[in-house]
Amino acid sequence: MKDPVPRTDTPIETDEMEAAYDRIQELEWSFAQLPILHAAAECGLLGLVATEDTVTAAQASEQLDLHPVATVKVLRALAAMGILHGEEDSFEMRAGFRPLFDPGSVIHHANGQRHLFHLSQMWATELPGFLKTGAWAKTPRDPESMARFVGSMRALSYGMVGRLHQALDLSESKHLVDFGGGLGTYSIELCLRNPTLRATVLDVESVAPLTTQEIEHHFLSDRMDARAGDYFETDLPNDMDVALFANVLHQEKGEDVARLMARAAAALRSGGQLVVVDFTLEESRTEPLMGALFAINMRLFGDTYTAGDLRDWATAAGLIDVTRTDLGPNKFVIVARKP
Ligand SMILES: C[S@@+](CC[C@H](N)C(=O)[O-])C[C@H]1O[C@@H](n2cnc3c(N)ncnc32)[C@H](O)[C@@H]1O
Repeated sequence: MKDPVPRTDTPIETDEMEAAYDRIQELEWSFAQLPILHAAAECGLLGLVATEDTVTAAQASEQLDLHPVATVKVLRALAAMGILHGEEDSFEMRAGFRPLFDPGSVIHHANGQRHLFHLSQMWATELPGFLKTGAWAKTPRDPESMARFVGSMRALSYGMVGRLHQALDLSESKHLVDFGGGLGTYSIELCLRNPTLRATVLDVESVAPLTTQEIEHHFLSDRMDARAGDYFETDLPNDMDVALFANVLHQEKGEDVARLMARAAAALRSGGQLVVVDFTLEESRTEPLMGALFAINMRLFGDTYTAGDLRDWATAAGLIDVTRTDLGPNKFVIVARKP
């Protein structure tokens, strides 16, 4: 690295407008980070750095047949984004990111990123019209795109399962129903960590066979099953003592969330728990940022809900002892008990 150029000690003060200018510039350029992640994952660059101790830009461009100058610029940007350590043209992935980008890892994040990249393109096209008219059609999903979606959900959900396990006491629980459970990411991990727990993963018809494969892959077929059905209508097992709604309630309107929670509460055994994992939204409904952004993603068919909303619906459904645990900056878990 070159020697630093001496800095003057001239203090530069910024007024309110100038500080706003800096902030706006930062916000406007935030568009660039997802395309960088997406392109670097798709061409194998992130996978390569995740599986090697150290990679130089020259090695990476040769091995992956990439342009050398473009490669070094993208690697430097990934270092600036906090994913790599590195200077000039030699890079190493920070430890926590390695399992997320290692193509051989079960929690490989590329699926999640692909989904989010597609979403960002859709936002760019649809948001102006949505703002004017409220219209933004729900994306129809054929079986193939459904498989991609639940695969991306597994990648996006996996980082929360260990935290949910810490937040819940399932030591006395016998049968968990995972409403809209997708590939069963949460219930599989909860069953692995609670050896006497059984789980039923309830999801739509095109997802259930994929979930069955996932259950078999984890050798849990003796304690778990995947059931195809609509969570508003399907019969619920009469020994259900945990009703889990993980990243599900936001996809419904408030009145339907109330109906769904009431349905689950009625079916729960006495002493059972209703558990909601979802994006955090404080009562102001303006923070955290992610909760406010996600509310837009749910357009007019769903929303982000506050702990107070969920508490009120749980209480109306006859549940008691409602608590909130923060799983991180953007997700919380709400637990309510059936008397
Ligand atoms: C955002 S994903 C959440 C998946 C999983 N719970 C997780 O957190 O990883 C929502 C899931 O709800 C399912 N779903 C949507 N409407 C449903 C319905 N009416 N009945 C059953 N499942 C439904 C979808 O197929 C999808 O798998």
